[in-house]
Amino acid sequence: MNTTQISIACTFLFLCVTLAHAQAGYGATSDSGYGSALLALSSPATELPLPPTPAPAPEPIPEYVNLTDLLSVAGPFSTFLHYLESTKLIETLQTQANDTEEGITLFVPKDTAFSNLKKPSLSNLTSDQLKQLCLFHALPHYYSLSDFKNLSGSGPVNTLAGGAYTLNFTDDSGTVHIGSGWTNTLVSSSVHAKDPVAIYQVNKVLLPEAIFGTDIPPPAPAPAPVAVPDVAPVADGPDADGGKGKGKGVGSDTAARASTPSSSHRVTGWRTVVMVAVCGGLVVVL
Ligand SMILES: *[C@@H]1O[C@H](CO)[C@@H](O)[C@H](O)[C@H]1NC(C)=O
Ligand SMILES: *[C@@H]1O[C@H](CO)[C@@H](O)[C@H](O)[C@H]1NC(C)=O
Ligand SMILES: *[C@@H]1O[C@H](CO)[C@@H](O)[C@H](O)[C@H]1NC(C)=O
Ligand SMILES: *[C@@H]1O[C@H](CO)[C@@H](O)[C@H](O)[C@H]1NC(C)=O
Ligand SMILES: *[C@@H]1O[C@H](CO)[C@@H](O)[C@H](O)[C@H]1NC(C)=O
Repeated sequence: MNTTQISIACTFLFLCVTLAHAQAGYGATSDSGYGSALLALSSPATELPLPPTPAPAPEPIPEYVNLTDLLSVAGPFSTFLHYLESTKLIETLQTQANDTEEGITLFVPKDTAFSNLKKPSLSNLTSDQLKQLCLFHALPHYYSLSDFKNLSGSGPVNTLAGGAYTLNFTDDSGTVHIGSGWTNTLVSSSVHAKDPVAIYQVNKVLLPEAIFGTDIPPPAPAPAPVAVPDVAPVADGPDADGGKGKGKGVGSDTAARASTPSSSHRVTGWRTVVMVAVCGGLVVVL
C-alpha cells in the first residue's frame, strides 16, 4: 500500500465505525459500551462522547385516594359515611389511608345492612361506642383479597378500634368470611383494592363483643324472608369483581416493557459488530 491507499483506508474505516456507532443509537445503554470498546481498538485517537446514562425510573407514587369521594360514589354507603363524618373519624381513616407504608383495609356495610339491623340496635350507643363500632370496620394495614389466606385461621386480627376489638377471618377458596362473634358475614365485593387502600363491601354491620357482650343469641334455625337481601347475588361476589388480578396485570405489563428494549439493544449490538467486521475486511482488501 502507498500513502494514498493507506489514508483512503483509514478514512473509510473511520466512516464505517462512525456509521456503525450511530446505528447503535443513543438508547442502547447496555451494548454501547461494547461498541465504544471496538471503536477504541480500531482508532484509539478518536474520542466520541458516551451516550448519557438514563436516570433510573423513580418509584411510582401511589395515587392519593380520597375516602369521602370514593364512599360517596360507591355503595350506597351513605349511612356508614354519615357516621364517619359525624364522628370526624373520616379524618382518622384518611390519615391511615395516606400512610403508604401500612395503608388501610376498610369493610363497608351497605345502607341496607344498617336498615336491616333491628337487634341489637345502634340507637342506644354512646358516641364513644359508635366511634369504636366504626373503627372496628378498619384494619391498620392494606390486605389484598389473596392476603386473607394468610389471616385465615391465624386467630383474632386487631382492628383500628384496638384492644379487644378483633375480627376473625376465614378464607373459603377465595371468599373471605368475617366473624365478630355477633356477626358472620363475607366480603361481597371489592370496591377498591390497590395498595395502600383496600375497601370491601360487606352485607352486615360488624358488631363487636366488646360493646354488645358475649351473650349472643343463637342464629335463627330457619332463614327468615328478611334474610334474603343478605344473600349476595352472584354478580356481587368477589369472583365477579376482578380486583384480585389487578396486581398481577401491572406486574406482567412492566415485565413486557422491560424486555422489549433490551432485546432491541442486543440486535443493534450485533449489527455494529457485523458492520465493523465488514469494514475491516474491506480495508484489508484495499
Ligand atoms: C375529598 O373529597 C371530598 C368530597 O368530594 C372533598 O370535599 C374534599 O375536599 C376532598 N379532600 C381532599 C383532601 O381532596
Ligand atoms: C391525605 O393526603 C392528601 C394528599 O396528599 C392531603 O390533601 C390530605 O390533607 C391528607 N389527609 C389527611 C387526613 O392526612
Ligand atoms: C335503648 O334504650 C331504651 C331506653 O333507654 C330501652 O328501652 C331500649 O330497650 C334500649 N334498646 C336496646 C336495643 O338496648
Ligand atoms: C403469607 O404466607 C406465606 C407463607 O406462609 C409467606 O411467604 C407470605 O409472606 C405471607 N404473606 C403475607 C402478606 O403475610
Ligand atoms: C376467633 O378465633 C379464636 C380462635 O382462633 C376464637 O377463640 C375466638 O372466639 C374467635 N372470636 C370470634 C369473635 O369469633
